[in-house]
This record gives sequence, C-alpha cells and structure tokens, in this order.
Amino acid sequence: MSGNKTFTMIKPTAYKNKCTGTIIQKIYDGGFHIAAMKITKLSKEDAQKFYEVHAGRPFYNDLVESMTAGPIIAAILEKENAVEDYRKLIGATNPAEAAEGTIRKMCGTSIGENAVHGSDSEQNAEIESNFFFPGRERF
Ligand code: CMP
Repeated sequence: MSGNKTFTMIKPTAYKNKCTGTIIQKIYDGGFHIAAMKITKLSKEDAQKFYEVHAGRPFYNDLVESMTAGPIIAAILEKENAVEDYRKLIGATNPAEAAEGTIRKMCGTSIGENAVHGSDSEQNAEIESNFFFPGRERF
C-alpha cells in the first residue's frame, strides 16, 4: 500500500485527557486501517529530531517540551489518499480554527496542545513511520 499511508501521534495532553478512545474511533469512522500503533515516550533528542524541520521557529522549544511531557501514541494509518484525508479529519493546526467534528476541534485546547500530529506529505509519512516502527510491528 505504498503511497497510501500516513503517520499520526496522539500528543501527551490528549493522552492525559483520555481523548485516545475518541481519536481512535474517529480514525476508524474515517475509513482508515490501523497498520501499527504503540504507546511510547519521546526523549528530548527524539522530539528535537522528529520536529527538526521546525528548529529555529519561535515555538520549537515549547513544542519539544510539550511533546516530551508524557506518553504519546504513535500510529501508521492506511487508506486511499491517506495524507490528505487524515489532515481533513484532524482539522486546522489551531483547534480554534478547526472545523466542527474534527479531532483537533474535539480534543485540542491550543495550537501547541492540538491533540494530534499528522504527516504533511507522503514522503514525510514514510520518514515518520520509519522513525517509530520496524517492519515486524506493521500489520
Ligand atoms: P504538528 O502537526 O505536530 O506540527 C508542528 C507543531 O508545532 C504543530 O502541530 C503545533 O502543535 C505546534 N505549533 C505551535 N505553534 C505553532 C505555530 N505558530 N504554527 C505552527 N505550529 C505550531
């Protein structure tokens, strides 16, 4: 299914706020197959590397801090047009601007605490999936 996958993380605040069940249900209702999923925790180095494209942006240090504050859930999701469809399902980066019924509207509280990450391209979906999951953890 190359080209038909995306990567997501349920962020520490959403996990702590017990939003995981709501998010997974939205993922299934959106027609995605969950090809891989695990609960884990990012080290500071992990978060810096994962978000290195944002290094130097004013929010980078806060982002690294919030992403390392507690456990996250990482997952690979599959369906036709996965990257674009998942970005529609999660809504705008800022929950205040996200459409009704989107994951970020339902579970996010601010731009920094926006419940989930979703890959922005097929290339990044591949890189981000490889960051977390060896082949034997994919189904
Ligand atoms: P995410 O999809 O995980 O990718 C980068 C994250 O940076 C983004 O979600 C937001 O949580 C966070 N962030 C904080 N401030 C900003 C901002 N001004 N613009 C974009 N992203 C931001």
